[in-house]
Amino acid sequence: MSKTHNIAVIPGDGIGPEVLREGLRVLDKAAALDGGFSFHFTNFPWGCGFYKEHGQMMAEDGIEQLQSFDAIYLGAVGYPGVPDHISLWDLLLKIRKSFDQYVNLRPVKRLEGAPSPLVEEKRNIDMLVIRENIEGEYAGAGDRLYRGQPEEVALQTGVFSRKGTERIIRHAFEQGWRYGKSVTSISKGNALQYSMVFWDEVFAEVAEEYPDVPSYSYLVDAASMFFVLDPGRFEIVVTSNLFGDIITDLGAGLAGGLGLAAGANINPSRKYPSMFEPVHGSAPDIAGKGTANPLAAVWSASQMLDFLGEEKWGSAVLRAMEEVMTAGSPLTPDMKGNATTEDVGIAVAEALQKPGTHER
Ligand code: NAD
Ligand code: IPM
Ligand code: MN
Repeated sequence: MSKTHNIAVIPGDGIGPEVLREGLRVLDKAAALDGGFSFHFTNFPWGCGFYKEHGQMMAEDGIEQLQSFDAIYLGAVGYPGVPDHISLWDLLLKIRKSFDQYVNLRPVKRLEGAPSPLVEEKRNIDMLVIRENIEGEYAGAGDRLYRGQPEEVALQTGVFSRKGTERIIRHAFEQGWRYGKSVTSISKGNALQYSMVFWDEVFAEVAEEYPDVPSYSYLVDAASMFFVLDPGRFEIVVTSNLFGDIITDLGAGLAGGLGLAAGANINPSRKYPSMFEPVHGSAPDIAGKGTANPLAAVWSASQMLDFLGEEKWGSAVLRAMEEVMTAGSPLTPDMKGNATTEDVGIAVAEALQKPGTHER
């Protein structure tokens, strides 16, 4: 009665394939140790290499091909030689939007043994950033007028729908209510008098429905400062697409680096597949060297296990990562080690232990 999770794998560009290989290793190890479930991985060779050959980032019917999978596991997209706005809009952003993956869950949590520049005190860094993932500043509404003329104009319009704004904020409050955490909105109503004032109004409206959930609202500039000086004040953070992009790289820096930051693109209705990917990109500066840190990809795999109903294994993977980081070796150069991507993947797979029966 073993169940099979059907996963679409899109390694993508640069270090994407290198780190994903290790995530797959850890997933396979979890399935082997458990015995009650297995993975069936289907590889899709889409990305900038595919573009060079076929003139498109994914197959014509790529979205239809992905539709029936239980989840998508993605490495990274983008590489010099293909304009970023083409590679990202035609693959990564296309999947997020086509599959209505409007919730982007990005934990900013300092795992045991993880390095951080915030060394002076035992700072509590444990937040979950919930980023609106398909509209806002990334709506794709705009134009280029009078190209090449002195009067040239570029327009990029933020689109904040009531439906889109309300559902992401409500999602954050639901999490706050369920886990007993505060919810903090990060916006910019002082300067963006239409979109962000609207966002703040919706936040206040939804907050009223959850009187037991403490709620706070920060301007994004001040919030960035507090991320560094007092990260413990943030628990669940809800924010717009662009702000969420920026503050989660900042959060990555605080909690172990981009090599450790994971993200899940969730379609809560489960009508479409959700997608799991590291926060980082294709890192062309280190691609091909075999030294990329696979831990972000492994953490994304842990998020995927949670999503697939294998939460005990999701937690077990995080514990295995902590064991390797606490041991201090093997770690990749970004974590001051000298190990390879593969060394780290093998070490995490070896550290992985079947969750005890008392924990089930
Ligand atoms: P990046 O995240 O690829 O790299 C930023 C820095 O972090 C680089 O110095 C890189 O070496 C380092 N880094 C990133 N991941 C690492 C890892 N796992 N181990 C060790 N070091 C790591 O961002 P960038 O350089 O601004 O962008 C490169 C390309 O990736 C661009 O084409 C960009 O558009 C794309 N990108 C894609 C995604 C995605 O697919 N989700 C995310 C961000 C950027
Ligand atoms: C991320 C990336 C993407 C984003 C880019 C590559 C379009 O930076 O996932 O954080 O901005 O969402
Ligand atoms: Mn980003």
